[in-house]
Formats: sequence, structure tokens, C-alpha cells
Amino acid sequence: MITRRLLALAATPVLAVLLAGASQGDGGTPGAAGAGDPYFPQSGDGGYHVVHYGLTLAYTPATRLLEGSAQLTSTATQDLSSFDLDLSGLTVSAVTVDGKPAAVRRTGVKLQVTPADWLPKGRTFHTTVEYRGVPVSITDPDNAADGWIAQPDGSVFVAGEPQGAMTWFPSNNHPLDKSAYDITVTVPDGWTAVGNGRLLSQRSSGGRSTFSWHQARPMAAYLATAAIGRFQVAQTWTAAGLPVYNAVDPREAKAAAPVLAQLPDVIAWESSLFGAYPFDAAGAIVEHVPTVDYALETQSRPIYNVAPDIDTLVHETAHQWFGDSVSLESWRDIWLNEGFATYTEWLWDADHGGPGTAQRFAQYAALPAGDDVWAFPPGDPGDGAHLFATPPYARGAMVLEQLRRAVGDPVFFGILKSWAAEHRYGHGDTAGFVALCETRSGKDLDGLFATWLYGQGKPAQPGAPAPGGATPTVRHHA
Ligand code: ARG
Ligand code: ZN
Repeated sequence: MITRRLLALAATPVLAVLLAGASQGDGGTPGAAGAGDPYFPQSGDGGYHVVHYGLTLAYTPATRLLEGSAQLTSTATQDLSSFDLDLSGLTVSAVTVDGKPAAVRRTGVKLQVTPADWLPKGRTFHTTVEYRGVPVSITDPDNAADGWIAQPDGSVFVAGEPQGAMTWFPSNNHPLDKSAYDITVTVPDGWTAVGNGRLLSQRSSGGRSTFSWHQARPMAAYLATAAIGRFQVAQTWTAAGLPVYNAVDPREAKAAAPVLAQLPDVIAWESSLFGAYPFDAAGAIVEHVPTVDYALETQSRPIYNVAPDIDTLVHETAHQWFGDSVSLESWRDIWLNEGFATYTEWLWDADHGGPGTAQRFAQYAALPAGDDVWAFPPGDPGDGAHLFATPPYARGAMVLEQLRRAVGDPVFFGILKSWAAEHRYGHGDTAGFVALCETRSGKDLDGLFATWLYGQGKPAQPGAPAPGGATPTVRHHA
């Protein structure tokens, strides 16, 4: 699968040149420094695919020291003489490939690894990276803090979209590369470390507790977490038998309780709309982090900076289908994540006594041409600084409302289910989504997408203004 992606990416001139060199010479050539994303050209490496990450971490809240050992099982997608991992900060003490010490060079956030023996295309190989240090979060192009975000009390908020994974483990840091994960974290007794997927074991000895988490389904690096806190933990099961693990900062417990109690209903309701829930575990990590103003759909168990409201819970849960199971091929397509998750909020509200989706659409449509929602087309944010601005969220949802009106409810909801099913555990792009919509509806929808997804500025208004003409409350969702 990754090979097909790379061939597609090779259509871009720079990569074509880099990949063309890949077939020459016995010793292989370096993996392309960057998976080819137009917004984050440095992220990832096109020369290999990580099948599995085994992260073994120890964290000391008092000193904020992280000691890590990363074991990556990878497949070479070209003859490879060297390859890059993304790692920001931290000190690397040893790297081996297939048990032999490898040469390492660090330039910026790239950790270039040259194995003792070159790796032929198709070879599965094992890389180990021993590292330690006090992780430093990064500042995204939109000025948001991202990555391993330690708090004054020693707890840690761990979120990685779009780039922050590299602050706490070495990875092929692009959503094109999805992998299984085992994340094992040792912390002092009294602290809890929460990762993705199922808790395999929790044991305590010598004053320290070790939590082992397993995420079996493919996961993009940005969706990995290892949140650490003095959490209140609740383990339950949904009626369908899905294990739910909630970890909540005591300061947020009262506000979080009534919302988290609805998680099983939200999962069941979204499953009825989008098809079976994609993962074998669920839950929430609720922290108390006033310096971060967003939540993240960390796979199987979203992380919240404060107790979420119901719309935020619905939003992050919707991302389990749209973003986590069906992942982006390119960050430019962020509306496939954020527009879908936002429209799911609209659907939830419509189904639970709130305004209908037509009314929500009309409220946004009534906003003046100078409003943020029209600042740029949701299908083309332009760069990494605008991924999480209003258009991919609200105007992305407007695209879906327009689509629904054009094709009718049965076809529209069929499209959502098919999109989730056909790209389950894989990737999707906007062209593929448009093609699906046209096939399912038998309609030419180019005009609709040209206007609503790609049109600059506020589209000419079809339909009536907002009912009642009230000034809408526009939530700038994180
Ligand atoms: N995907 C997250 C959400 O909508 C938002 C992540 C924001 N990240 C950032 N760097 N601003 O739930
Ligand atoms: Zn979102």
C-alpha cells in the first residue's frame, strides 16, 4: 500500500528525482527526507514503512526526565542505504539496525540512520533507538503547543497533531505511514500513564508502576499518546462489550462526569451512522491544561485539555472514523477530518433537541463576507498554519450539508458509511471522496465542490437567510 502511495507522490518533481535514483546501485540510496507532503515537506521519510512501534518509556514527574527505548519494525520500500526518523530534542545514545550499531547524524529534527548493511527493497528490518532527556514541546505553524507538554505539577499532556510526535519518540512522522503500537510506560506509584488501545497489564514494583498499552490497528504517529497524571481511573464496558478506560484529572472530574457518561451512547449513535466502531477500545483522557486550547482525537482514546462539552466529545469520537481509521494522505485534505467531525456535531445536535443542520448552515451562511469562515477555501488551506482555522471545520461541514441537499438523505448517509468502510484502517483523499459521491448519486457534483470546497470567499447564497435572522453563536472549535 505504501508503495502505491509513493508512486503517486513521485508525480511531484522533487520526489520523482529522488525516487528515480532509488533503483540505481547495489547499496541502495537514502530514503527521501520527507514523505512528500506539500505543507510539511520535511515530515517522514518515503523510503520505508513502519509496521510496528514498541515504545518502552520511563518518566519521572519530579525531574521531567523521559528515558526511552524505541523498537521499530519496518519494511524498506526501496533499496535503502540510509533512512530518516523524526525526533526533536532529546539525546540519542545508541541506534542499532538488525542488532548492529548504525551510524547516526542529527540535523534539525531529522535523525539520519545509516545501517551497517544496506537494506534491499521489501526487507523487514528492526531499528532500536535508545534516548533520554527532558522533552520540549514544539510550536506549530499556528502557534499552538504540540507534542509532549509537561505541566508544573509533573503531569503531561501528550498530543501530536500535526507534528508533535517527534518530541517524545522517533517516528516516520506522516499520516501516510500507519503502524501498530505497543506503548509501555513506567511512572512512580500514584501516577498513571495512559496510551492508545487496550491496557494489557499494569504492575507495580519498587515504588514504580508500569502500564502496557496495545494498539493493534494501524495508527498515524500524531495520534499516539502516553498521557501522565494523577488520574481518577474508571474502567467499564459498553453494552456492546467494548472496554472503556477513562482517566480524569480530579480537578475536572465533576464537570467531566456527566459528559463522559454519554460516551457509550455517542459511540453507538455514531456506529449506526458510520458503521462499526473501528477500534477494540475506547475512553477519554481528561487533563487540566489551561495553556492548551484544543482536544485531540488520539486513537481509541481522545485527550482533552479540560472537561469536554458534549459537542467536543461527539467531535473527537467522530474522528475515530474520520481521521483515525480513514487517514489523510496529505495535510491539505484536513477538511476530510475536521469538516466531517464538525458535521457530526451538527447531526448530533439535530438529533438531540438542538438546531437542525439546515439551521446551522443558515447561521454560518448569514455571516458577512469578511468573516473568518470565508477566509480561505476549506479544501485548500494553503499551508500548515491554517489547518485548524475555521474554514476546514465550519465551512467543511457546510460542504457536507450542501452535498446532502444535492443527493438526498439516503444517498448522503450511504456515502458516509461507504467512505468509512472502503478506506477503513487506510487512507482517503478529496478526489476519492468526490468520485464516491458522484458514483453513488449518479450526479455531476463538480460545481458543488468547486463552489463550496474550493471557491475563494463567500459563495453566492442559495436558499434563504438564517431563520429568525438571529446573530449566530459561532464556536471556534479547537
Ligand atoms: N484535530 C484536533 C481537533 O479538531 C485539533 C488539533 C489542533 N492542533 C493544533 N496544532 N492547533 O479536535
Ligand atoms: Zn477535530
